Amino acid sequence: MKAAMSTSLVAPLLIFFTISLVVSGSALSIDYYAETCPDAELAVTEVVKEAIANDDTVPAALLRLHFHDCFIRGCDASVLLKSRGRDKAEKDGPPNESLHAFYVIDHAKKAVEKMCPGVVSCADILALAARDSVALSGGPTWEVPKGRRDGRVSRANETNQLPAPTFNFTQLKQSFSQRGLSTKDLVVLSGGHTLGFAHCSSFQNRIHDFDTASDVDPTLDPSFAARLQEICPAQNRVKSAGSAMDTTSTAFDNTYYKLLLQGQGLFSSDEALLTHPKTAGFVSQFASSQEEFFEAFVKSIVRMGSLEGGEEVRQNCRVIN
Ligand code: HEM
Repeated sequence: MKAAMSTSLVAPLLIFFTISLVVSGSALSIDYYAETCPDAELAVTEVVKEAIANDDTVPAALLRLHFHDCFIRGCDASVLLKSRGRDKAEKDGPPNESLHAFYVIDHAKKAVEKMCPGVVSCADILALAARDSVALSGGPTWEVPKGRRDGRVSRANETNQLPAPTFNFTQLKQSFSQRGLSTKDLVVLSGGHTLGFAHCSSFQNRIHDFDTASDVDPTLDPSFAARLQEICPAQNRVKSAGSAMDTTSTAFDNTYYKLLLQGQGLFSSDEALLTHPKTAGFVSQFASSQEEFFEAFVKSIVRMGSLEGGEEVRQNCRVIN
């Protein structure tokens, strides 16, 4: 009798525990808006397509926006919020000064709000726009789990939590593992550097005053280093000067890994992937198989995109409700 009683008590408890785990764990799902806003994805894709047709720097910008969003307070669109007076938002933190194409998310939000007001979060729109950016640049496509909430907090000083281009392997590994991401995720997601552009300031540590022995990082291919020095002289540099991330910087492909193996990665953080046998192995694998890179990228970006945060569905992506 005693045993029977305890079983009957334990069973509902177990059910409650399981349900609360599901609720408090990642509640994202692929068909999250199936009933409430079935055409949201189409609307976002249309806006992204149009923006890319006018400006081929948009895909890189949207992919990086999603990454910077997820790495601070989870994927909660905190990166989109505007500063309020002296309260500087993430957007205005030093590593985020070169983020751009915010208007694309605003346009997409407007289009979606017209169809179903107050339903689709800005964080979901950003995740969808990043997926579309990769796919429309020749990369893989995937189903985006949705149901993210938008955050109400955005602080410029928290942008110091973003990994820096000068980071070594240990620092990068720590930055990713703090967010539950593996060293494989680190290598795979660094492949996002197949798209876009970097300013001289992001890699100047490698081409001027590298250390006491050499001006230039010895792991850089010498002719590549010379080219970078020409674009980015030590003095009188044009502020907007810089280099494409790889030689095919509007195509999402595996060129980034191929160049990395030739000493032509731009940042110390890219080069750092070769300093550990395990991550160097992944670099070689992705350099020789674009298909394996694409497959891994989908898994890693879905993982990164599931970092939780936020509590509301913002009406305007730039301001809290
Ligand atoms: C592993 C750590 C990472 C570091 C240290 C890093 C650092 C940087 C830096 C310094 C820039 C250039 C900024 C500039 O000079 O304007 C950049 C650009 C970029 N990053 Fe990363 N990044 C990292 C990971 C990622 C990830 C995970 C993604 C996406 C999956 C990503 C996507 C991009 C893209 C697409 C650009 C080009 C942006 C544009 O052209 O507008 N990065 N990154």
